[in-house]
Amino acid sequence: MIDALFKLSGKVAIVTGAAGQLGGEYVRTLLGAGASVAAFDLRPGNPKGRLNEIDSDQLLIAEVNIVDRGSVERGLEKVLSRFGNPGILLNNAAIDAPPNASEQETGPFETYPEESWGIMMDVNLKGTFLCCQVIGGHMAKHGGGSIINISSVYGILSPDQRIYEYKDKPFIKPVTYAVSKGGVLNLTRYLATYWAKNGVRVNTLTLGGVFNNQDATFLKNYSNKVPLGRMARQDEYNGAILFLSSDASSYMTGANLIVDGGFSCW
Ligand SMILES: NC(=O)c1ccc[n+]([C@@H]2O[C@H](COP(=O)([O-])OP(=O)(O)OC[C@H]3O[C@@H](n4cnc5c(N)ncnc54)[C@H](O)[C@@H]3O)[C@@H](O)[C@H]2O)c1
Repeated sequence: MIDALFKLSGKVAIVTGAAGQLGGEYVRTLLGAGASVAAFDLRPGNPKGRLNEIDSDQLLIAEVNIVDRGSVERGLEKVLSRFGNPGILLNNAAIDAPPNASEQETGPFETYPEESWGIMMDVNLKGTFLCCQVIGGHMAKHGGGSIINISSVYGILSPDQRIYEYKDKPFIKPVTYAVSKGGVLNLTRYLATYWAKNGVRVNTLTLGGVFNNQDATFLKNYSNKVPLGRMARQDEYNGAILFLSSDASSYMTGANLIVDGGFSCW
């Protein structure tokens, strides 16, 4: 029974941002469940995902820029010729303001650079839209499947700026990440209704913060807001990915699955 619910043998999955911290986890999880996996990333050699350590003839690694429709189309062509029609699309690629972002980018909302807004909206929202259009469009014509769009607690709630007040330089968590991740939620709902008749399920997976060697004060401030009292380990979303990718979630579409240690309850 467990196999019937969760097994992905014979399925083809595409993971974007596959060479990142969480992308590498998802690639391993999907391969482990029996899927053939295409790992798309702008920087496939990003060491965070450790894709180079995976030894599997069911893994295809491709350099794909999700903001460039031609690049996504070429990536899909590679998948079709190697594995056949994809049945799982995991829209995981995104950018956030890095800890070393410019002062303007992490400064007051009033002077947040328009250019930074454009760059982040392009990757996080337009990139997800393009992958849905090109790859999801193909799935809708060829047997359906499951699309998982990744959001964040900052896509359903405002960042609590007090978490960052301890920093030497003023740090304001930028607006664009929150707005783009909020947009992902309604792209999901739109497509869930639009493609329901084609057998394409579309769901959002909303994540809480992941431990990544952040400084002790940040860890304390963030963890104080989490009923479970800590950030997530990077492997703690794999179960949700498997659930949403497989027949275990066959009656679920347009939903938002929140895995955040309880962050959004308070
Ligand atoms: N890590 C967290 O704490 C956290 C919390 C909530 C939500 N999330 C979400 O989870 C997802 C993965 O996060 P992560 O921490 O693994 O990020 P990450 O930065 O480690 O990985 C993101 C990957 O996306 C790739 N990428 C960036 N722009 C791209 C483009 N234009 N085309 C193709 N690939 C591109 C990068 O090269 C990178 O390998 C993101 O959607 C993120 O918003 C993460």
